[in-house]
This record gives sequence, C-alpha cells and structure tokens, in this order.
Amino acid sequence: MKLLLVGANGTIGSAVYKELSHDVEIITASRSNSDVEVDITSPASISRMFEQVGQVDAVASAAGAAHFGFVDEMTPEQNLIAVNSKLLGQIHLILLGLKYIRDKGSITLTTGILMDDPIEKAASAAMANGGIRAFVQSAAIELPRGIRINHVSPSMLEDSIEKYGPLFQGFEPVSSKRVGLAFRKSILGAQTGQSYYVY
Ligand SMILES: NC(=O)c1ccc[n+]([C@@H]2O[C@H](COP(=O)([O-])OP(=O)(O)OC[C@H]3O[C@@H](n4cnc5c(N)ncnc54)[C@H](OP(=O)(O)O)[C@@H]3O)[C@@H](O)[C@H]2O)c1
Repeated sequence: MKLLLVGANGTIGSAVYKELSHDVEIITASRSNSDVEVDITSPASISRMFEQVGQVDAVASAAGAAHFGFVDEMTPEQNLIAVNSKLLGQIHLILLGLKYIRDKGSITLTTGILMDDPIEKAASAAMANGGIRAFVQSAAIELPRGIRINHVSPSMLEDSIEKYGPLFQGFEPVSSKRVGLAFRKSILGAQTGQSYYVY
C-alpha cells in the first residue's frame, strides 16, 4: 500500500504519518522538506508531482491555506487564498491525480470544524471547507474503478493550541491520535463519500 501524503510535515500531516507509517509506505509531499516537492496552488506543480511519483494506492491531503480576517475588511484577493489553496488545491489533487490512483484506491482531503461551528474571521476557511465537503459527496458517486473519496473535518488539535487557542474559545481540542484514526479509516477502510468529523 503506497500513500502519497501532501502536507506531511504539518500538524495534521504529522498525525497521519505517525498513525500510518508502520503499515503503509508513505511518500511525503509539500513545498519543502519532503520526498517530492509540490505547490497545490499550481496545477502544473501537481501534475509534475504525480509524474514523479507514479501509481499510488492512496492520496491524502493535509495542506491548504486560508486568509483569516473579518468579512467587512476582506478583499477578493485575500478570499482567493482559500479558493486557490485549500479548495481548488485539494480538488486539483483529485482531477489531476485520479489516473495515478490504482483500482480500489482512495483520496482523503482535509476540511475543518469552522464550516459547522463558526468563529470570527473564519468565513473564508469555512467556505473552502464547505466546498470540499460538497465536492467529495458528489464525486463519490461517480469516481471510477472503485476509487473511494472522503474528507476529515477536525476541530482544533491539541498540538495547535498554542497557535490557534485564542481563536477557538470554548472548543475542546482533539488529539492527534483521533485525527490520525479518521485518516486510517478513510485510507484503509472501505467507506466512500463520508465526512469524518473529529469534534
Ligand atoms: N491544526 C488544526 O488544529 C486544524 C484543525 C482543523 C483543520 N485544519 C486544517 O488542516 C489543514 C492543515 O492544517 P495544519 O495545522 O496541519 O497546517 P500546518 O501545520 O501549517 O501544515 C501545513 C502542511 O501543508 C504544507 N503546505 C502548505 N501549503 C502548501 C501548498 N501550497 N502546497 C503544498 N503543500 C503545502 C506545509 O508544508 P510546506 O510549507 O513545506 O509546503 C505543511 O506540510 C489546513 O487547511 C487547516 O485549516 C487544521
């Protein structure tokens, strides 16, 4: 079982790596310090990554940026950060990567709690999360060759309290173990079209 893990060095990516690295061959990908270089905001870069890596059984993404700011101050350009990175970046992994995924393989994307439980300054991130959820549910009914697709929607991780804690007042942080298990279920299980909420 070969897994291409995009965003492997990040907080969520590291949780996925730790959970699966004993069972699965993992190829790490990100803009720096990974086995393969990729910038998901560039379709050309995504295509180059897949050409380099070749056939895999699973693709998982834990990458995607968004601008955090008040709606009445947000510029269209700032909003496009989430569109180009978290939303289209992850969706382009499907569109450009599908032919590299073996029969009965899987795709797992990352969304997040902000689409269900709003906080200030997070509308752009929530937009991207909701778009991914809708795309995943629709794509699941038509992906070819038994390929499955799911997304994992974590709340704030315990490992991210220092970074995001002040924004997430009253949210119960979740363990990296639980987030890793949701990815395990998606990658090594049999379900498709699922939303795994780690709230
Ligand atoms: N942490 C949380 O508590 C939490 C909770 C719910 C949802 N989320 C969501 O989950 C995603 C990952 O969060 P995180 O906290 O794990 O982020 P993180 O620690 O900043 O890690 C992001 C990872 O993605 C890579 N990356 C970033 N931009 C990229 C790009 N354009 N192309 C390719 N790789 C890229 C980074 O490596 P390089 O910089 O080297 O490219 C890094 O490996 C985000 O969308 C975030 O909103 C996070």
